[in-house]
Amino acid sequence: MKNQKYTATTFAGLEEVLAKELTELGASDVEPGRRCVYFSGDRTLLYRVNYCLRTALRVLVPVDSFRIRSVDDLYRQTKRIEWEDYLFIDQTFAIQNTIFSDLFRNTMFASLKAKDAIVDRFREQFGKRPSVDAENPDIWINLHIAGDVCTFSLDSSGQPLNKRGYRVGRHEAPINEVLAAGLLKLSEWDGKTDLVDPMCGSGTIAIEAAMLVGGIRPGDIRKEFAFQKWPDYKKDIFTAIQDEKTSGKPECKIFASDISRQNINSAYQNAEAAGVSKLIDFKIADFKTLEVPSARKFLLFNPPYGERIVPEDARFYEMIGSRLKQYYTNTTAWIISTPACLKSIGLKPSQKIPLFNGSLECSFRRYDLYEGSKKKNGPEHKLT
Ligand SMILES: C[S@@+](CC[C@H](N)C(=O)[O-])C[C@H]1O[C@@H](n2cnc3c(N)ncnc32)[C@H](O)[C@@H]1O
Repeated sequence: MKNQKYTATTFAGLEEVLAKELTELGASDVEPGRRCVYFSGDRTLLYRVNYCLRTALRVLVPVDSFRIRSVDDLYRQTKRIEWEDYLFIDQTFAIQNTIFSDLFRNTMFASLKAKDAIVDRFREQFGKRPSVDAENPDIWINLHIAGDVCTFSLDSSGQPLNKRGYRVGRHEAPINEVLAAGLLKLSEWDGKTDLVDPMCGSGTIAIEAAMLVGGIRPGDIRKEFAFQKWPDYKKDIFTAIQDEKTSGKPECKIFASDISRQNINSAYQNAEAAGVSKLIDFKIADFKTLEVPSARKFLLFNPPYGERIVPEDARFYEMIGSRLKQYYTNTTAWIISTPACLKSIGLKPSQKIPLFNGSLECSFRRYDLYEGSKKKNGPEHKLT
């Protein structure tokens, strides 16, 4: 199969780390866009990136692109695409859309028009039509409309790639797996210094870190990808990728703790499902009294936060700041939270990266905790 153009989607702020991952996996023409990265490669690369990428949400394969002037135009032009090349008549399909266009006030309407066009094409040609399954279709079609430019793509991933398949334990506010992996990459953690998540919740950051250093690829856990149901699926290529051995003997320890027993139970269950429970040291502990038995450590965590800061939040973040100052000298700490909450930490960040956690505007900040700041700000305490 000759080289083809693809688009990997991600969260705002992760484009550069995704581009680096793609380059490392052998992609060519890698070009970061807005919440996506464009690249090219062959079919093997398409399967490989779905299997291995940690910071992508979906990998799309463009099918056709055209301009429209009206809703009827969308119907007409969609109908002329040879959909029978992309789905069997007895398969189900769904159309997901992203629309920035005045032509469609109701975005569902665009998907409905496109669906009608596909179904009508099949019915007119074969007297039968494929069915729609919005939840769990065989073929995932992506419709992107920006102004008057429409692009249809096949979504080769299906369920978004953050759904690794290890989330069995519950938590009220887990960080997205793709964002957690992105934070680890943005922080430039070396994989050798011990990693600590002292507010680990369901364990996502620690699990993603353990998978990274343990050589576990997201696809090793995940059950399926949409491209496995495509008419042109080549099982032998996919099996060869699955069989590739990845090395992974971690040189560091990973510590994950949380104040809640229930969260630690969930985190442990998730780590078991991901096959990394042996690589993580779990503990129920309040950060206020936590002692980490490690000389060289690197902290990365997302504390709880509200949309609006209340006095308790401010006190909580003050506690984080003073704890870092007193007990974590010669340590790098990265924290993601809202800018308002982070203000109360009372430490000067050496780096600030704007990001979103869901729809919430956040900042990912680096604090370098040197010997000097401890002496200035409090008595010396020894960690055991
Ligand atoms: C936003 S959640 C972290 C979510 C986590 N990254 C995940 O992926 O599930 C914040 C966590 O901090 C924990 N927490 C709150 N106060 C704490 C404290 N004083 N010490 C340790 N953990 C605390 C909560 O139990 C909660 O699980």
